Amino acid sequence: MTVALLSDVHANLVALEAVLGDLPGVDAIWVMGDTVGYGPDPADVLALLRERGAILVAGNHDRAVATGEGLDLFNAAARMAAERHRSWLSGADRDALAALPISLEPAEGYSICHGSPRDPLWEYVFDARTAAFAMAGLRVARCCVGHTHVPATFRTGDGKLMINPGSVGQPRDGDPRAAYALLDVVGATVEFRRVEYQVSETQRRMRGRKLPEMLADRLAFGL
Ligand SMILES: [Fe+2]
Repeated sequence: MTVALLSDVHANLVALEAVLGDLPGVDAIWVMGDTVGYGPDPADVLALLRERGAILVAGNHDRAVATGEGLDLFNAAARMAAERHRSWLSGADRDALAALPISLEPAEGYSICHGSPRDPLWEYVFDARTAAFAMAGLRVARCCVGHTHVPATFRTGDGKLMINPGSVGQPRDGDPRAAYALLDVVGATVEFRRVEYQVSETQRRMRGRKLPEMLADRLAFGL
């Protein structure tokens, strides 16, 4: 069983289309949150993932857009984008976002969430030590997360594995290409992939929709 791991699409439809176009045949698509926030096309991204039968959990941006929760923790640009998305989305889309679970076990032995198992909406995991603490209470040995926008795997001393595919729509590792990963569920092996997409088209849409300039600029640098 091969699963496409996607996270932090952040309403970047052009990047999402490029990733879906790059996918080999997969048995499922798991999305580790922050499907909306920042980018120009929140409704179209939600519709496309729904059409592809993707399994989604909630990210902090999804929650903020859906309910306003956590908006006060965002910087000014992130807050402005979330408020825009909240006003653009239909009531049905906002309700669907609000109803997303904060974690799921989509396959035997695997948990998925946005930040970490101990703090699913907000914790950033950047190293194996933090991963070990964050997974200590988890009854399964493997978890897939997002949130940092940096692709990584962390193996803990007690044999657990945390996988972060990076960000489809707003990479922050200095490489502007869309990031995702392919997971072989049985073998627990991961292939990280990068896909070129037309960053300038996403930037054009963001400027046309009056999103903060800084959010568009950063896409060109993968920051
Ligand atoms: Fe994010």
